Amino acid sequence: MKRVAIFISGGGSNMLSLLDAMEDPSFGAQPVLVLANSAKAGGLAKAAARGVPTAAVDHRDYSDRAGFEAEISKVLDAYKPDVICLAGFMRVLTPEFTAQWENRMLNIHPSLLPKYKGLHTHQRALDAGDTEGGCSVHLVTAALDDGPILGQASVPILDGDTASDLAARVLVEEHKLYPAALRKLIGELE
Ligand code: GRF
Repeated sequence: MKRVAIFISGGGSNMLSLLDAMEDPSFGAQPVLVLANSAKAGGLAKAAARGVPTAAVDHRDYSDRAGFEAEISKVLDAYKPDVICLAGFMRVLTPEFTAQWENRMLNIHPSLLPKYKGLHTHQRALDAGDTEGGCSVHLVTAALDDGPILGQASVPILDGDTASDLAARVLVEEHKLYPAALRKLIGELE
């Protein structure tokens, strides 16, 4: 059974879809840790309510990324995950950290990569007059939102859509795509 750590910054809706998926014994993985970069992250209570160990490592407590990540690595040493899933995790990780987890760390990004790396993806798609939006799950590499893509899902952009309309439509697909992509990676690890 592979061991999965999930990193969050906020409500953790993607985290919940991953936890739900791993309840199926055939999935082949178990959640061992949910880590947030703030003790206020709403997802921590949701994870704890499901009996998943949690940790908060607040990036503001450290003077640099290396210090922040050293503390994260200490926590990871205690839980020994095989795979890390970034799920609404809003901190950029250093090349050193991503190298340690090469091919074993995933991220979900709310755009059809390689379009719209970075932030405000839905507004950028609307501003560009795109007819579709979507989400991508990719392996995390040193370059932001740039690693090999494991899966994508697209949704139509409708007349009059706001960024939050599009975000809500994409989020529904994220909750299906992420568990499917993780399951595929877990299968390849065995
Ligand atoms: C989602 O749009 C996800 O694509 C992005 O963060 C947003 C919130 O995710 N990475 P969650 O609800 O906290 O899982």
